[in-house]
Amino acid sequence: MKEVRWATRPYDGYAIRETLQPDVDFLEVGPATMTGEYLRRFWHPVAMSAQLDPGKPVAITILCEDLVVFRDLSGRVGVLHKHCAHRRASLEFGRIEEHGIRCCYHGWHFDIDGTILETPGEPEDSQIRHRICQGAYPAKEFKGLIFCYMGPPEEMPEFPHLDSMEIEGHELIPYSIHSPNNWLQETENAIDPFHSVFLHGRISGPQFPGLEHFLELPVVKYRERDGGIVYAHARRSGSDNLVRLRFHDYLFPNLAQNGGMFQVMDSPKAFGRTSLTKWVTPIDDINSRKFGWRHFNDADEVLRQGSRKNVGWEKVDFYGQTAHRSYEEKQSNPGDWEAWSSQGAMNVHKREYLGTTDEGVALLRSRLRRDIRRVNQGKPINRLTPSNNGLISTYGGDTVLRLAKDSENDPAFLGLVIDTVTDVHIKAGALEAGERAEIIQREINAKFPDAI
Ligand code: FES
Ligand SMILES: [Fe+2]
Repeated sequence: MKEVRWATRPYDGYAIRETLQPDVDFLEVGPATMTGEYLRRFWHPVAMSAQLDPGKPVAITILCEDLVVFRDLSGRVGVLHKHCAHRRASLEFGRIEEHGIRCCYHGWHFDIDGTILETPGEPEDSQIRHRICQGAYPAKEFKGLIFCYMGPPEEMPEFPHLDSMEIEGHELIPYSIHSPNNWLQETENAIDPFHSVFLHGRISGPQFPGLEHFLELPVVKYRERDGGIVYAHARRSGSDNLVRLRFHDYLFPNLAQNGGMFQVMDSPKAFGRTSLTKWVTPIDDINSRKFGWRHFNDADEVLRQGSRKNVGWEKVDFYGQTAHRSYEEKQSNPGDWEAWSSQGAMNVHKREYLGTTDEGVALLRSRLRRDIRRVNQGKPINRLTPSNNGLISTYGGDTVLRLAKDSENDPAFLGLVIDTVTDVHIKAGALEAGERAEIIQREINAKFPDAI
């Protein structure tokens, strides 16, 4: 293995002679690659319902596989290999039928599960259609997104039905945005809360209304859970004795939720909920597509600056998430999209020099590597477990507590606050919404009197 060198003294660019290659075992997602096999053990969003509405098949690429997604005339969604099993014409030019789709070239007719229903040019007694199938994957349409499972049928997990998909008063608007880079780069952005201090605060000025306190460096704690990581950051700003905590969900392999958008965190609050549920789906090794929902709600988004009409295909209603800004604007006010896409089509991890702010990224990579190995060894991996109510508990959201500064060691105190509040949130995670908020408030006040 090549030795990695960094410049270690001023004007030492010459020291870096090696052209290091990306760690392909970790980053390549095609069929029969290590990470590709791992990713194929999960449901992924692959399209928006709105794409299917004109009644035409849509060609997509997911995990380096060319596919076609469509809604047949009886309303069912199909995801098939794009190239016809007969002689490989693309089904994106096929004709949608009551059941399934018919290839334009010689009329072979496929059901949504890949069964060949008809081979009209073949003799009546032809057995071809009983011998083979068109490649197909199970699909599920949910709240405006189309999800697909591309792994071995016998290992198909339950669809991850999160409690955040059913919050009363939340309107979920789907959206999707392309990035010209490996899926892991954008994914890692979701477990790096320190970038908010700089990218969204100190460098260009606050980019998100209501989150101006992000200028302060937080205390951050990560905690592993079944099938994921829950982490929180806490910080003070000014002299108001308020501790602002933000909880994030990271659910393997590519699903994240964070706190509330367009809110005001200037008074105590026990249990805010997320404003974003989002996946980063790999298209191929060097392209990815975010699919998710913006949660519009009255409870947390008190500033009312969200915009439903700016959420959808290639757009979302907060700053810096897409390619569609001028180069001048990207340079003068770079956002998340510039950060992860400028790491290159496929970041070279060996060339990075990780610091203390990268604890989350390091944890994520080590958990991913472990599970990638386990899947490739035929071993089981940790999975999200639904509670008795059938939903997976999640914690993305904000909590604000009134707590005097600890004059001895406030960062250590903030760490204790995170641990304590995380325990409370997790303990109450499976309760029905009203009771959940009540118990969280009561338990936090029992630990920290008058905090709320
Ligand atoms: S290529 Fe599709 S039916 Fe011949
Ligand atoms: Fe960000």
